Amino acid sequence: MNYKDFYTSSINQPEKFWAEQADAIEWYNKPEIILSKDQNGYPLWYKDGELNICYLALDKHIQDGYGDQVALIYDSPVTQTVKKYTFSEVKSEVAKLAGGMQSLGLKKGDTAVIYMPMIPQAAFAMLACARIGVTHSVVFGGFAPHELAIRIDDCKPRLIITASSGIEVDRLITYKPLVDEAIELASHRPKKVIVLNRKLGARVPFKKYDVDYDALVYGSEEVPCVPLNTTHPLYILYTSGTTGKPKGVVRDTGGCAVALKFSMQHIYNVKEDDVFWAASDVGWVVGHSFIVYGPLINRNATVIFEGKPIKTPDASTFWRVISEHKVNAMFTAPTAIRAIKKEDPNGDFIKKYDLSSLKTQFLAGERCDIATLEWYAEHIPVPAIDHWWQTESGWPMIANMMGVEQLPIKRGSVGKAVCGYDIKIFDEEGTEVGPNEQGYVVIKLPLPPGTLLDLWNDNPRFKAGYLEQFPGYYFSGDGGYKDDDDYIFITGRVDDVINVAGHRLSTSEMEEIVSSHNSVAECAVIGINDALKGQTPLALVVTKLNDSIEHFQLEQEIIQLVRQQIGAVASLRNVVIVERLPKTRSGKTLRKLMRSIADGDDYQIPSTIDDEAIVEEIASVLEKYEIGTYNKKQH
Ligand code: COA
Ligand code: AMP
Repeated sequence: MNYKDFYTSSINQPEKFWAEQADAIEWYNKPEIILSKDQNGYPLWYKDGELNICYLALDKHIQDGYGDQVALIYDSPVTQTVKKYTFSEVKSEVAKLAGGMQSLGLKKGDTAVIYMPMIPQAAFAMLACARIGVTHSVVFGGFAPHELAIRIDDCKPRLIITASSGIEVDRLITYKPLVDEAIELASHRPKKVIVLNRKLGARVPFKKYDVDYDALVYGSEEVPCVPLNTTHPLYILYTSGTTGKPKGVVRDTGGCAVALKFSMQHIYNVKEDDVFWAASDVGWVVGHSFIVYGPLINRNATVIFEGKPIKTPDASTFWRVISEHKVNAMFTAPTAIRAIKKEDPNGDFIKKYDLSSLKTQFLAGERCDIATLEWYAEHIPVPAIDHWWQTESGWPMIANMMGVEQLPIKRGSVGKAVCGYDIKIFDEEGTEVGPNEQGYVVIKLPLPPGTLLDLWNDNPRFKAGYLEQFPGYYFSGDGGYKDDDDYIFITGRVDDVINVAGHRLSTSEMEEIVSSHNSVAECAVIGINDALKGQTPLALVVTKLNDSIEHFQLEQEIIQLVRQQIGAVASLRNVVIVERLPKTRSGKTLRKLMRSIADGDDYQIPSTIDDEAIVEEIASVLEKYEIGTYNKKQH
């Protein structure tokens, strides 16, 4: 089947299309109602189906005779460990952990937070939750206790699963004390904390609520999978929105299983028993979909990589992992390739490894610049496929569907709409714009299976944030355009969300934190272009009148404050003190104008500006701080 026919059938006959795709997985009770609506009128897939995603990821393959096939490859340059687990081994540990969780009182309908480094036990914890119907919420390890506490208070976990520590390049991150601090900060108290003792660094003091991971698994019996309704929430994954409060994206079980099986085959083009590697983190949606559930459901070996593209120990790591584990398809963020390119511009490390197993390189998470794609093509002879999606969608929305038909690659474009996604470009009024005209990227409802079901405990925000701006359509928050051949180009977020090294962060949240400093009268945080990370945050700060704090000290205190409250991952390093912020006469801060000035882009001073002189003022302060110098040189 060619892409065009396959895609068209998914849009013209969605129920038939997704009923057929549902046949690709095993159900305890196959759904008869393919598409219906929930109590709020939002589309619902496979309402009456019953399944268990842990069964699909593990038990099914063992029953089919593949128990001895490798399911998980743990490669950790930071601890110099490589360990492989078969499907039988993973299932045994997961089923015992699930049994242990049940003995602690966990049951279907409870929630559990997982806060772990990139180790196999993070995946085991997710699968154990799924096995017994506990909804997990994985929190990325780079977030600080304050962020963890916000999530604990929102999803009210009965249990937290963590590890004593993780390793970030050259330093130990003590996870468990961060969890203890978060519990202190939160109003909600989880009953128990399961701690994997990694025996790295100092011993972590024992708390009354602690349970030792190894002892729990060792002392527990394997328990079977619990049949769950399709719409049972498999997980809640918090992502940055346009306010300080993160949004808890809720994913169902049935739609997710169907969509991930579909993605592995039709987008990533991996056959069962291929090796798939998504070099991301279980704390992000990529980790949920394509480190844990997708590859395992498709009976692929998945790589859990505890390291970085560079410095662990050098820019050869990715190529070593591909060649050593015979990786067939790989997924990473463009930042990772840019980091490697910077350290190894001539690709000398690449030449040392046999990369013949690799068929395709997938890139997503942020905009991919053409120079990076060109560098990749010069050094590695496999297609590099940029594709676009979000935490909310859970799986790719725009791509080159490599398992259907490889379309010609247009560098700079993220490809064409994936089956099930009827993508349009709208203007402000909700009218579709013509080819090559920029606008808002929206998707006609219903979204296909596996996309977000709701926001946890916040249906009004779900409606207001995604559905109300353009009735009948889902609003992605991104801008873009289609060319004459229906290839789509993403131009970036149109809201206060920024993407730093593929990590999604909220500038409004940073603004709230910066404003909380005693010496700050007002501030604006904007995302500016960065040669390595794609974007980095820049805080422009106006101090209170007569405040005598040294500017240098204030800058450092603000950097530390954001690091403490959000975490190191926020990467706020640029804080600039200005006399005033550019505003419209009605008092609206002109963030876009400041972004353009910092990025050295051409800009027009809005006619509504309060005082034009401020443009020169801001430009000269940024020049003094040498902000945007790199980008200005490019222009
Ligand atoms: N736990 C604790 N701290 C973490 C962390 C984690 N899981 N992940 C990142 N951090 C810390 C880093 O140590 C760093 O701290 P520092 O400011 O003290 O140096 C900070 O958060 C920023 O991290 P990062 O943005 O990753 O920058 P970096 O300079 O450490 O590394 C790259 C740069 C390009 C190598 C790295 O960003 C990378 O590998 N990017 C790929 C991104 C990716 O895979 N994204 C997934 C989305 S698909
Ligand atoms: P996240 O929810 O963390 O996956 O971030 C999703 C956001 O990242 C999207 O809304 C886009 O702004 C951006 N993004 C993801 N993939 C791409 C891509 N291939 N090109 C451009 N932007 C992307």
